Amino acid sequence: MNKQSKVVQEGYNKLAKKYSKERHRYVNDALLKLFAKHVKKGSKVLDLGCGAGVPIDRFLVKNGYKVTGIDFARNMLKAAKKNVPRARYIQMDMTKMKFRPDSFDVAVSFYAIIHVPKEKHAKLYKDLHKILKSDGIILVNASGHKKWEGYGDFIDTRMFWSHYAPAKTSGILKKSGFKILWHRVLELGGEKQFWVLARNKK
Ligand SMILES: C[S@@+](CC[C@H](N)C(=O)[O-])C[C@H]1O[C@@H](n2cnc3c(N)ncnc32)[C@H](O)[C@@H]1O
Repeated sequence: MNKQSKVVQEGYNKLAKKYSKERHRYVNDALLKLFAKHVKKGSKVLDLGCGAGVPIDRFLVKNGYKVTGIDFARNMLKAAKKNVPRARYIQMDMTKMKFRPDSFDVAVSFYAIIHVPKEKHAKLYKDLHKILKSDGIILVNASGHKKWEGYGDFIDTRMFWSHYAPAKTSGILKKSGFKILWHRVLELGGEKQFWVLARNKK
């Protein structure tokens, strides 16, 4: 793992409890409603960078989806297992996913891919394309609202972010086999992020 990703992993291990307390600032109800509109109940969902599992995995499990969450920060996963006992959680780096092709129907990722060094985004989406079934949906916070990379302070903890601008990110998604159905820059909890709903095409 490179230096930047270590900072992210250590950062989230350190701030797991504080993060859970702050998470309510980001209200994602409209995004979850959009997801539910496109994805039928019972679908197998992969959540990349699931964190403490709330509110996303909790919503998904409550609404009849079968959730697998992956995260590389063990303390976030510990919280997730407690918060959403009906989901399956695995400690895994999303840049080194070990799942068979067609393992999941759909995938979500909220506020997590923006922590992955941007030069790894293309491989990440190609991996996702393989492990998802054809016609599956992804709903992801694919990048920030503009290109940015660097360190900063997040809830009193050193953190790293990295992403391209939305147009480049959309290009990467298309090249990786996704058809974009909806995209928006949304300001939620005081942060502008680029959100994408796309269909996997095999
Ligand atoms: C801001 S939190 C978001 C958590 C959750 N998705 C949510 O909506 O609250 C970002 C999460 O992504 C995880 N993460 C970042 N980079 C990762 C990577 N390469 N592999 C797995 N998890 C990663 C962090 O450990 C952290 O739990």
